[in-house]
Amino acid sequence: MKLIESIEEMQSTAINARQAGKTVALVPTMGYLHAGHASLMDEGRKRADILVASIFVNPTQFGAGEDFNTYPRDLEKDKLIAKAAGVDYIFAPKASDMYPTGYQTYVNVEELTLPLCGASRPGHFRGVTTVVAKLFNIVMPHLALFGKKDFQQLTVIRRMAADLNMTVQILGMPIVRESDGLAMSSRNAYLSQAERQSALCLSLALQSVRGAFRSGERSVEALRKLALDIINAEAFAVIDYVEFYHEATLTEVEQVDDRTLVALAVKIGKTRLIDNCVLGED
Ligand code: PAJ
Repeated sequence: MKLIESIEEMQSTAINARQAGKTVALVPTMGYLHAGHASLMDEGRKRADILVASIFVNPTQFGAGEDFNTYPRDLEKDKLIAKAAGVDYIFAPKASDMYPTGYQTYVNVEELTLPLCGASRPGHFRGVTTVVAKLFNIVMPHLALFGKKDFQQLTVIRRMAADLNMTVQILGMPIVRESDGLAMSSRNAYLSQAERQSALCLSLALQSVRGAFRSGERSVEALRKLALDIINAEAFAVIDYVEFYHEATLTEVEQVDDRTLVALAVKIGKTRLIDNCVLGED
């Protein structure tokens, strides 16, 4: 496994791989890798000749007052996890190379970025689509893998790739959870022991909604109440949103069905966590 920091070197490596007839898969990350990231790498390893994982804490997707400066970083541990997952190249560019003085070009997906995390984090998805578009131009992957943990992000990236006629195939992968149900996230590292316990309310709320749906409940208000009651019972939890959306259009539904996305964002102390499920999926 090789660590590449230079954009030019990554680009020439990608061009050489393509010219040699090799397929390239990319797993974009912000590092502090965990088993959720590793699951994307494992799948990428199976599907392409060359596997690239990018590690870049992207400043443009963090708002003022968000956790850019404190976002956890551990490149040495990340190298071990990436190597074990069969990554060929870690691409870890410098922020000053990705966004040099004079930088002024951004990619913006419109309607899909307005609700949910787009409403709570203005400018966030503009930063995500911009950096992902740049990574696609640098790594030139045939395939890029993203987690359904960030469901709206995946939807927005699919839209960007289709709208801008990008040739890269986008693959969405299932959410990887801790044994007690908490969705894995680099931000879980912020949680104190008591908060970590409290954070279970997200996955418990989803489980409860799913259970009621399976028993025949179709009312958004009834299902929302189940989720709200579970989350509001937690001392450290402050709800950002509990929404029932159509999974493809990200618009609100009146009656839930198999294709309803249940999306949660909850602050546990200072840490903002998200989780989701699509009711018709496992
Ligand atoms: P990051 O939060 O590091 O996540 C990188 C990828 O791992 C994303 O596609 C995310 O959905 C996926 N992922 C995170 N936790 C997961 C879990 N528990 N199960 C499955 N997949 C999981 O998302 C970003 O970084 C950034 O926004 C990025 C796309 C890299 C752009 O900067």
